[in-house]
Amino acid sequence: MANDPEKEAAARASLRFVKHGNVVGLGTGSTAAHAVRLLGEKVKAGLKITAVPTSYQTKELAESLGIPLTTLDELARDEAKQIDVDIDGCDEFDLHLNLIKGGGGALLREKIVASASRKFVVIADSSKQVPVLGKFPLPVEVIPFARALLAKEIAKLGATVRLRQYAYGNPFVTDEGHHILDCHFGEIPDPPLLSRTLSDMPGVVEHGLFINLATVVLVGKNGNVEELRRERIDAGL
Ligand code: 5RP
Repeated sequence: MANDPEKEAAARASLRFVKHGNVVGLGTGSTAAHAVRLLGEKVKAGLKITAVPTSYQTKELAESLGIPLTTLDELARDEAKQIDVDIDGCDEFDLHLNLIKGGGGALLREKIVASASRKFVVIADSSKQVPVLGKFPLPVEVIPFARALLAKEIAKLGATVRLRQYAYGNPFVTDEGHHILDCHFGEIPDPPLLSRTLSDMPGVVEHGLFINLATVVLVGKNGNVEELRRERIDAGL
């Protein structure tokens, strides 16, 4: 079960990765929203940052808090500028710090921002830690034209596939105008392989497997925050 105090504790711990003058990626979802609110407080107290939101939802929240925003277009015009740190939540993470994301439907922009950042700081409550990814249905963002065909093809890989819908029955539409297939695989034994397989399917825009992207995962657990780092895990430390 998701735990809000754990989410907030992880979000608070992520703030130490943000330095004066940084460009900061702002994730989407309830855990990321804690980080955005806490950053908003710091900005009010004098911290100078600019931020790239990963969804309209986060953009609105950041604007309401007075966090100055920039865009990938603006950053691309300046050779010296890059996103210094991206802070975002996840739906699941495993022992290799691979993730499933996209429960909130923002996985495409989230993956672009995470991939373009020097550091990707993932914040999570303890319910998100799993030995093997796949209990959470993997969101796959697809172009509407190919939706039914892709649902069939992904089912052949062993998943139960559901089109994400609003409560009133229309398909959920992402910020980039696509649809989402929620693909329940059960255990995913080889996430990098599945990632490549899905990316190779024409009509798949992006999927929620974030492989080798997280620099660190901060997990709220029993009143503390545990810090899991990929380089230490890879080195067997
Ligand atoms: C949105 C995401 C979120 O980070 C993920 O769904 C976790 O959400 P929450 O922090 O509300 O548990 O990937 O696309």
